[in-house]
Amino acid sequence: SKRTKFVAGNWKMNGSLAANQALIEGFASEVQSGVDVSVFCPFPYLAQVAGLVKGTGISFGSQDVSAKASGAYTGEVSVSMLKEFGVTQTLVGHSERRSFHAESSEAVALKAVAALEGGLMPIVCVGETLAERESGLVESVLAAQLDPVVEHCSRFVSNDTWNLVIAYEPVWAIGTGVTASPEQAQAVHAMIRARLKAMLGEVVAQSTRILYGGSVKPGNAAEIFAKEDIDGGLIGGAALSSSDFSGIIRAAR
Ligand code: G3H
Repeated sequence: SKRTKFVAGNWKMNGSLAANQALIEGFASEVQSGVDVSVFCPFPYLAQVAGLVKGTGISFGSQDVSAKASGAYTGEVSVSMLKEFGVTQTLVGHSERRSFHAESSEAVALKAVAALEGGLMPIVCVGETLAERESGLVESVLAAQLDPVVEHCSRFVSNDTWNLVIAYEPVWAIGTGVTASPEQAQAVHAMIRARLKAMLGEVVAQSTRILYGGSVKPGNAAEIFAKEDIDGGLIGGAALSSSDFSGIIRAAR
């Protein structure tokens, strides 16, 4: 397909100076042209990771960002601060932010706007819970998560493309060892792409990368990434092992 495959590692609240160095040195040699590779580390490690990835072709970013530019927002980190450390990408709306920090889809959309305004690529995470899936609500939940993003961010579409990636992560598959089947994931990715097409047109929809996340491992990555509308993965647990992450990068080639 015309979309470059993308393997992104979300370290979540894991790592240490020593572990980060060993991890990146352990998979850096797997990174070659043809697959984009990024890591998303905790804020304090951004400066270290900036140094570790230099010259490797690995991109890096933060796991969250403030929608605000500066001011009295204790604990928040702005786009301009991230950019000073060479950050080019950020996750927004990860399900752990939505559930543990009560981030609404509107708040997530405004974070994506702040990122795009500052020239950072947001990876916007969406996904349904098991209860929502069992109630037949996948499409409506995803629409409610996606539509504010499209509404607020469509002004950043230029030449039929935008610097925005979507990650579909069914909440029931995150950290559980239960992966969506490649067919289940593909069905939702196609649904997301159809919604993008309806709102932004066919060309934008076809150029937007949609990553799958949720218990991706070296052993299941290839068949997931082979699906038509799956453009790579957002990897949690397996991104903390250089051999597992290497295997997943290889599966994307
Ligand atoms: O951001 C990553 C996802 O939450 C997936 O995590 O690979 O540990 O299931 P996991």
